[in-house]
Amino acid sequence: MCSFRDQETLDTMLRLIVIGLLFTICFGFKQGRIVDGNPTEITEHPYQVSLESEGYHFCGGSIISPDWVVTAAHCVTEGHSISVVDPSTLQVRAGSSYSGEGGSVHQVSKIIVHPEYAVSNDIAVLKVSPPFVFNDTVKPIPMATVSPSGGATAVVTGWGNGQYQLQELDVGIIDKRICNMQLFFINNSMLCAKALRLFKGPCSGDSGGPLVSNGKLVGVASFVIGSCAAGFPDVYADVAYLRNWVESVTGVA
Ligand SMILES: *[C@@H]1O[C@H](CO)[C@@H](O)[C@H](O)[C@H]1NC(C)=O
Ligand SMILES: *[C@@H]1O[C@H](CO)[C@@H](O)[C@H](O)[C@H]1NC(C)=O
Repeated sequence: MCSFRDQETLDTMLRLIVIGLLFTICFGFKQGRIVDGNPTEITEHPYQVSLESEGYHFCGGSIISPDWVVTAAHCVTEGHSISVVDPSTLQVRAGSSYSGEGGSVHQVSKIIVHPEYAVSNDIAVLKVSPPFVFNDTVKPIPMATVSPSGGATAVVTGWGNGQYQLQELDVGIIDKRICNMQLFFINNSMLCAKALRLFKGPCSGDSGGPLVSNGKLVGVASFVIGSCAAGFPDVYADVAYLRNWVESVTGVA
């Protein structure tokens, strides 16, 4: 049996391994798809948008007002130095169930990344021009005011690379303390969730996309541990915790 000291060493090693992976995943990939999700329609998730660069989908996002989209900071930054990408290279496609076609395309005019974004606080807002015109396929979603509790159900949506039709997946929220026993680094700016069935999960092309519970935006897809659907909880930015920052820079409450 391990002595306490050995256990401590083991914990530290695990911590380092996990944090190593985390950086690989967080900064390394922007491709992939929801693993084994179900096809869905934009009318079911009219707040979902696709972020495009040179006409290709690379991340998801959520409409919160006629002018603003919430996404993940890691979708709009480059490298470990965290330089923000040039907004003129990014467009937002709204109102389409399909990647790369349909709906309306809006130029990104401004990108604001959370000033304390490291691995935590993985959130950014994008201003679009022209503004969205709301209808059955294009609608804002309210941001949650309270973090969902462990056991709550939620749905994550996205296209990922190569996925033509929008996919959805049901997940369960994992209590932060319980999640931290597995992942060690979970902080208030993060939310854990896990697919309700094995071998299912979001993947990095779904990054920045919405996690919705009870009609509210509760999370922004942030990162997976190891590979997609590997059985670990997936991590999201916690919208209820970060909404004060979003409001302070966009005026959207
Ligand atoms: C709703 O808006 C989208 C995106 O702007 C557009 O493509 C679609 O035609 C609109 N639908 C209706 C019914 O006007
Ligand atoms: C957790 O949050 C605090 C405060 O925002 C930050 O200083 C710390 O680095 C975060 N921890 C991790 C592991 O991201």
